[in-house]
Amino acid sequence: MKATATAPANIAFIKYWGNKPGNLPYSDTISMNLSNCITTTTVEWDSKLKRDTLNLDGINLSGPKLERVVKHLDKIRKVLGISICAKVISKNSFLQGAGIASSASGFAALTLAAARAAGGKLSEKRLSRLARLGSGSASRSIPDGFVIWQKGSDKTSYAESIYPPDWWDLRDVIIIVTRKEKAVGSADGHKIAHTSPIFKKRVNQNLPRRTAAILKALKNKDIELLGKTIEEEALELHEVARTSTPPIEYLLEETKRIIGKLIPQWRKEGIPVYFTLDAGPNVHAILPGKYEKQLLSKIKKELPGVELIINKPGEGARLSRSHLF
Ligand code: DP6
Repeated sequence: MKATATAPANIAFIKYWGNKPGNLPYSDTISMNLSNCITTTTVEWDSKLKRDTLNLDGINLSGPKLERVVKHLDKIRKVLGISICAKVISKNSFLQGAGIASSASGFAALTLAAARAAGGKLSEKRLSRLARLGSGSASRSIPDGFVIWQKGSDKTSYAESIYPPDWWDLRDVIIIVTRKEKAVGSADGHKIAHTSPIFKKRVNQNLPRRTAAILKALKNKDIELLGKTIEEEALELHEVARTSTPPIEYLLEETKRIIGKLIPQWRKEGIPVYFTLDAGPNVHAILPGKYEKQLLSKIKKELPGVELIINKPGEGARLSRSHLF
């Protein structure tokens, strides 16, 4: 009863920020899977085990991180009708906790591997709903490519692919401003988002308008419309965080310099590159693939030695034969 799955992190063009019980978002969100930010997870259900165990990137976890996984395994046990414990070993291809949505790839891979290891063949929709319960954005790491996650009830809130990965040759060049784990996790930010005075207008007016714009931009492969909309959306996410009670500031001076000075400058110099941000200080530079080389040479000049993760649109969660144990 062992299975292994891989799943990508994803970058949201329309952000999930603020939730209702069951990790239900207030509005639809849209994302792109990241080809080079992958979690691989092996799960073995074993009746001899007395408790669930989790090893992440070579470290045996305990405390809140293990508890969160055990809680998710409880939900999977309930759905699959089993009561035994699991051994879980997981590896990230990238650094975790730096706003690169490692919870998305982590809970998506865990959900698929755990279900398969118990012999369950759940539909993509069911897997996405189940992954959502572990981490909201994990629902979007189950389907392929460009993805929309619908708001709704527990039964109707899941993610689906809008376009496959090869629909549009985009890049997400993640500029790692810091490797430090963020001080306030997303889970805490979601709880207080609604306290921001701009939250209501965001949900009722701004997000429906932006969601329509992103869908149009993806359909027409319109980088300017996509870019302008994701920049506006990223800035609003951070405005909500900054005006919540208590306020959260995720951005660093270096983040502000990259998004406020360097990216607009590179655009003026002819590269159609735009930024987005997650709940963290690292910058996601979004651009058409054919400009990748030009962007990398600018980065090399202006940000010498900076760490980058270069992503294409990626596939969703997959089963793998290469078990980690
Ligand atoms: C800013 O899915 O990480 O990246 O459900 O608590 O795990 P939990 O939150 P998470 O929140 C993601 C927040 C975001 C925006 C997004 O990815 O949509």
